[in-house]
Amino acid sequence: MSQVFDVAVIGAGPGGYVAAIRAAQLGMAVVCIDDWKNRKGRYSLGGTCLNVGCIPSKALLESSENFERASQKFADHGIRMQGISMDVATMQARKEKIVDTLTSGIAMLFKKNKVTSVHGRARLVSAGATYGIEVGDGDKSEVIRATHVVIATGSLPRQLPMAEVDNELILDNEGALAMTEVPRKLGIVGAGVIGLEMGSVWRRLGAEVTVLEALPSFLAMVDEQVGKEAYRIFSKDLGLAICTGVRIESVSKAKGKVSVKYQDKDGVHKTDFDKLIISVGRVPNSASVGPDAVGLNVDSKGFIEVDEYCRTNLPNVYAIGDVVRGPMLAHKSSEEGVAVAELIAGQSSHVNLETVPWVIYTSPEIAWVGRNEQQLKEEGVAYRSGMFPFTANGRARSLGETNGFIKILADAASDRILGVHIIGPFASELIAEATLAMEFGASAEDIARIVHAHPSLSEVMHEAALGVAERTLHI
Ligand code: FAD
Ligand code: NAI
Repeated sequence: MSQVFDVAVIGAGPGGYVAAIRAAQLGMAVVCIDDWKNRKGRYSLGGTCLNVGCIPSKALLESSENFERASQKFADHGIRMQGISMDVATMQARKEKIVDTLTSGIAMLFKKNKVTSVHGRARLVSAGATYGIEVGDGDKSEVIRATHVVIATGSLPRQLPMAEVDNELILDNEGALAMTEVPRKLGIVGAGVIGLEMGSVWRRLGAEVTVLEALPSFLAMVDEQVGKEAYRIFSKDLGLAICTGVRIESVSKAKGKVSVKYQDKDGVHKTDFDKLIISVGRVPNSASVGPDAVGLNVDSKGFIEVDEYCRTNLPNVYAIGDVVRGPMLAHKSSEEGVAVAELIAGQSSHVNLETVPWVIYTSPEIAWVGRNEQQLKEEGVAYRSGMFPFTANGRARSLGETNGFIKILADAASDRILGVHIIGPFASELIAEATLAMEFGASAEDIARIVHAHPSLSEVMHEAALGVAERTLHI
């Protein structure tokens, strides 16, 4: 390609494709290079998020929740159903359709915004006034030149050396999302976000699910009180067998089963599973762009080193999303993409990593923004806490979803909100109010003084804010 682009974006996940669109909107000549191929061997834009992450997992979660509602909850409403069964093939076809629609939608957005879309593996080969990027696609290769480069190459599943993923018996996220039948016994290594979301799907569809977690506590990343409530609900109500403080000793395959030997406080155990999901975190995918060839700095964990504006050590080269520090979340990647495009265009822009919301799409959902009680205690910050349960909320009662609570943590002196923690129905939607409040530096009293619609789940947020000043009304 003889054209010199203003911006070359490497990777078309939620970081890269958004960066490319925003840069094009700002009048720049943009190329976006991506190498993702789907299971049918076809190039597919959207990266991990759209192909084997956020979107397909939420599609399966919804299907499995509907199955559970129909088989266990509809009767409470007087809706009688008989002969309910799950057709996994139809569920998977629905998921594929959603993925296909959204990934081809990005191709349309690229066309609309005049982003040049190139498929193939990109490698940085030369640096200078312009950067040379070699793009390989099978036997073909070409060099693309650009003045600015945005690296958005995402992350890959972390591997366990003793359990090589084959996506037949031992699965990563890709295999976990693609099972064509419900395994009778499913093992999951790692009780993190993927383990719990995927474990919920297959448990609801009938699998016997055992989750093996290395850490002694459950969901160490969330507020301790939320973690305890989650443990109670997921083990008792959902029926996940959750083992913490586990050390995996060996994993072997024989006669169509996976055998896992592990140790915990009670001794050594050996269990056979029909499938085993490995979900022990993700690692940054920096090696794929060949950082050494151009002297791009990468840290000891493989993250491309960037400053608060996503600038790397190379002039005019930026890196965003999962391949750099910060939470590995799609919305964080996208916002960094927008910020970087605007910086390249000479505007000022930044992403506040302190107010990035997290959501775990279990049932009930878990969501939080800001710091939790453990962190505030560790930092020696004096805080007050207000908490309100969904069980005392009229809308939650009507929905039949009364598990969980909202907790607001506010600075003891200034009342400024420091963190909001939710376990309960539609936590993914409710967290938006808390994120907005924190971004605007609001106090708990600000939320307490806002009129919240009745009956709505948002009244739980209102009451939790009132609770910070010990003046809840409905409990
Ligand atoms: P990616 O989405 O990983 O995209 C990187 C792209 O770059 C890929 O297409 C890759 O093929 C391409 N690429 C890599 N190297 C090269 C190269 N050298 N040349 C050309 N192309 C290259 N996050 C949420 O916020 N919400 C969720 O609900 C959620 N659910 C998830 C569920 C699962 C099962 C998983 C695995 C992840 C989930 N995530 C979720 C995380 C989310 O998917 C990631 O944070 C997000 O995709 C990161 O975006 P990215 O653009 O940085 O990278
Ligand atoms: P994770 O970091 O959420 O959880 C990994 C878990 O595995 C941890 O609890 C860890 O202690 C445990 N672990 C690590 N090594 C182990 C070992 N050897 N044996 C047993 N347990 C071990 O990682 P996960 O679930 O793989 O997800 C990766 C990332 O993808 C998430 O951190 C998140 O950034 C993103 N994601 C986001 C989602 C969302 O936003 N809803 C959904 C799914 C993934």
